[in-house]
Amino acid sequence: MLSSLMDPAGRRISYLRLSVTDRCDMRCTYCMSETMTFLPRAEVLDFEELLRLSRVFVTHGVRHLRITGGEPLVRKDIGLFLTELGTLLHQPEDKGRLHELTLTTNGSRLAAYASLLARAGVRRINVSLDSLDAARFARITRRGTLATTLEGIRAARQAGLAVRINTVAMAGVNDDEFDDLLNWCGQVGADLCLIETMPMGDTGVERQASYLPLSDVRAGLEKRWTLDPIPVAVGGVAAGANGPARYVRVRQTGQRLGFITPLSHNFCSTCNRVRLSCTGRLYTCLGHEDGADLRALLRGGATNHDLEEVIAAAIARKPARHDFLLERASGQVMGPERHMSVTGG
Ligand code: GTP
Ligand code: 5AD
Ligand code: SF4
Repeated sequence: MLSSLMDPAGRRISYLRLSVTDRCDMRCTYCMSETMTFLPRAEVLDFEELLRLSRVFVTHGVRHLRITGGEPLVRKDIGLFLTELGTLLHQPEDKGRLHELTLTTNGSRLAAYASLLARAGVRRINVSLDSLDAARFARITRRGTLATTLEGIRAARQAGLAVRINTVAMAGVNDDEFDDLLNWCGQVGADLCLIETMPMGDTGVERQASYLPLSDVRAGLEKRWTLDPIPVAVGGVAAGANGPARYVRVRQTGQRLGFITPLSHNFCSTCNRVRLSCTGRLYTCLGHEDGADLRALLRGGATNHDLEEVIAAAIARKPARHDFLLERASGQVMGPERHMSVTGG
């Protein structure tokens, strides 16, 4: 077994987020601008390049691979790619075996892909859903249709996939819906994860006014729901090990409720992840620009050993923490100019 990847703070890198496209069929107000321009195709890694890099990471200790976008399911031939990636789940342990292949999607094409995902070895997915009200859903996503995403979620459950709903919590936008979302998740057998808005890239919509600290949301929910703590080790393992979400069990529904609090409660000390943009740039932290241009190496004829050296050197520079700031009272904002869709979160 080859050496695994560890940063100077002793955080072992076992989780890779792989963005396969920056394109999306929606334009969520907190993620993209209405007039987003997408990358020329030649800049985006082809599947062979993505597979080669995935194998290098898996050989060096990556056990969880989450496919992101933009919207991953809009990429042509994504089914073939996922099926190929799924073979890494069956490698012998001493060659480096992938333990989990997951996906984050907006659900627009999920109805068509759910059974293929299950066949490829995907066991759980995260689906963005910020509102159960059709008009509001359309306003937030700018291009999405609620019924289509709900149909996708139903198809995923039918195909046996565990589903976690991702809801970006926004004051004055969807903060009156968390009870409904919890109830609905109970009915469909999905977990719910509330997320604080992160300041990444200009989207043409001011994020500060809608920033909602999840500690306040949780205190409100606790008046109506019994939220039983889940030990981090247990919640973490079920959630892909040391993810940013902190989970509780909702006693009334039996489903989990997660909170992702990059602004109000930092979780970086247990971070186990790096991310690769669809252009082959390795980012060692969501909130920082530092990383490595793996595409230049790939296209310049680098060996796997060259790639490994550059990856290890980038991980050795992994920042201790992100420094997101979105201060409603003082009007201060701090975050990268890069849009969330470049690295898929
Ligand atoms: P797991 O694989 O179960 O841990 O899921 P996840 O929560 O990491 O995945 P998902 O793609 O659903 O992302 C949900 C939210 O978490 C998005 O808003 C991401 O941007 C955010 N997120 C994921 N990883 C990180 C991270 O390392 N740092 C920060 N600040 N946010 C993250
Ligand atoms: N802040 C927080 N979450 C975001 N997402 C997209 N943009 C942002 C942002 N600015 C979420 C989406 C999706 C996940 C990949 O990232 O809702 O579920
Ligand atoms: Fe597309 Fe996801 Fe961004 Fe919405 S949050 S625009 S669905 S990439």
